[in-house]
Amino acid sequence: MNQIKKYIGTILLLFIYCKNVTAQQTIQLMLQPAKPVAAIQPTMWGIFFEDINFAADGGLYAELVKNRSFEFPMPMTGWREIKEKESRSKLLIVNNANETGANLRYASISAAGGNFGISNEGFRGMGIYANQQYEFSVVAKNETVAGLKIKVQLVNASGKIIGETSLGNLNSEWKKYTAFITTTDSAQKGKLNVLFEGNGTVDIDMVSLFPKNTFKNRPNGLRADLAQKLADLKPGFIRFPGGCIVEGRDLANRYQWKTTVGDVASRKLIMNRWNVEFKNKPAPDYFQSFGLGFYEYFQLADDLGAEPLPILNCGMACQFNSGEVTALDALQPYIQDALDLIEFANGDATTAWGKLRADMGHPAPFNLKFLGVGNEQWESQYFERYKIFEKAILAKYPNIKIVSGTGPYSDGAYFDMAWKELKQLQPSLIDEHYYKPPKWFLDNANRYDHYDRNGIKIFAGEYAAHPKENNNAEGRNNWESAIAEAAFMTGLERNAAVVQMASYAPLLAHVEAWQWRPDLIWFDNLRSVGTPNYYVQKLFSVNKGTHVIPVLNNGEIVSGKDSLYASAAIDKNTNEVILKLVNISGRALPVNINLDKTMLKKQLAKMFVLKAADKEAFNTLDKPELVVPVEKQLEVKNNKIDLLLDAGSLTVLRIVATKF
Ligand code: AHR
Repeated sequence: MNQIKKYIGTILLLFIYCKNVTAQQTIQLMLQPAKPVAAIQPTMWGIFFEDINFAADGGLYAELVKNRSFEFPMPMTGWREIKEKESRSKLLIVNNANETGANLRYASISAAGGNFGISNEGFRGMGIYANQQYEFSVVAKNETVAGLKIKVQLVNASGKIIGETSLGNLNSEWKKYTAFITTTDSAQKGKLNVLFEGNGTVDIDMVSLFPKNTFKNRPNGLRADLAQKLADLKPGFIRFPGGCIVEGRDLANRYQWKTTVGDVASRKLIMNRWNVEFKNKPAPDYFQSFGLGFYEYFQLADDLGAEPLPILNCGMACQFNSGEVTALDALQPYIQDALDLIEFANGDATTAWGKLRADMGHPAPFNLKFLGVGNEQWESQYFERYKIFEKAILAKYPNIKIVSGTGPYSDGAYFDMAWKELKQLQPSLIDEHYYKPPKWFLDNANRYDHYDRNGIKIFAGEYAAHPKENNNAEGRNNWESAIAEAAFMTGLERNAAVVQMASYAPLLAHVEAWQWRPDLIWFDNLRSVGTPNYYVQKLFSVNKGTHVIPVLNNGEIVSGKDSLYASAAIDKNTNEVILKLVNISGRALPVNINLDKTMLKKQLAKMFVLKAADKEAFNTLDKPELVVPVEKQLEVKNNKIDLLLDAGSLTVLRIVATKF
């Protein structure tokens, strides 16, 4: 009998012990919807676009022809001659040296019968969809009387024709010709063949192929699937065009917005700085055609309902490269660029730059409110130049909100110096960047808890958690990185009194042409995939709310204790309480959510859960839905919600109240 009692006793002890080890006490969360602590700016969650990883040409910009105007340093880059062995036809690249414009070169074809032409490979191939219309165009001049015909073919990787058209009766003056092609099949790596039939000489330039279906059907438009992914984020702003690309490796190759507007054929091509930036990721065919230029960026912002935030060069080339600076007494053209940009965006059609915008198709102003001066600059050479910009801009446009920055470092001597200097100046926002391991994001979720509520506002302009390397292109965008960012973002939202803008970086990457990762959205020539990080951004952005409210555990903010991170808001427009909970632990966490005395409209909450099989999980173009949000419903009883938060998950709850 004693033996049995001892046995039962041991089992009981073991049971109690195990219960203590495994059972997690329910975490009590108190929400205070009646006590909003700060307004959340409509600009809180935005996007940052930079032409890196083939994000513009070969990516968002829907042009399918690479080097359409033969202006690459090697004029036949992207092109190949199609010629029968015995053919006497020939092609010459002519440089129209008499002209001073941007588009100096054209191809002159002397056709002497037979099969002759040129073929364009696109950007790592041309993505062609089946049963779609494509718009082919060319600027041509017939040099001879004889009738020449241009035959245009879309072919797949094996050379099968999947769409064709032709052009004839070419004029003896330069003229643009357009023809539509309807495709019969798709191709991931298609090509465009431009063939010349008959005898004679014809000059061609600006050989172009666009899908008819661009985002919002805009001419010279954007790739629909990629732009739609941006639209789905409902971004509050779009920062463009960079990034280091604004600075250039040297000043000659800096981004100059004036060379990116007006007729697309007159925009001056330059090398993309990411062409040569990383020795292990060379991209010798990476140039900027600027077909996607400042007008198109403003138009995109307009289409997305996002505030445009252009960043301008401040007279400094990238300090990681040449570090070249403009002499202080030679800064005026740079400052004039800033003033003229504001006129381009906001001026009416009686102003020179406002007229250009109107002539380009947008008579209404773009209503520019924010302007960034410099990207990642540091040390005194920046502040000296920034000061001159600030004075000139605010003198003419006192309402423009100027964005300055602390450079590439999130702390340390340069960071501290930037803060000391900028506190004396008048930027409306200070841009801080952090590319760090996931742990840094978890440890820094309370970074802004102690920033001065009345100080300069913060723009978290570039951030991404960088986990360890992975061989798959999309592989570094794993769940470990995404959940760390989610935890950190609860800290940004909780501090909406200080943080008014935030954007992940970089935005887009071609799986075969990237230089930098992780990135938010991956794509090939036909498909695109949102990363787990994309869905984190989306859940925060589309569930933003209008005012932050406290979410407390035993009277304290929830930021990492018991592996839980949280932020909450109310939406005064929709009368909802919105709660974001991030459980970074490998086990489920029981929480009890108390909605205080909030009068609820429904005893149901909407719930979105984003989680993954493990922290290494990531989405790919072939398996795009491994980590995507799942929508559920949840009961609210006596203004309380009992919830078991899934291991390693981001959960967003929306609860409808009667009124706030
Ligand atoms: O996002 C990639 C680069 O990272 C940006 O160009 C630059 O601003 C930062 O250093």
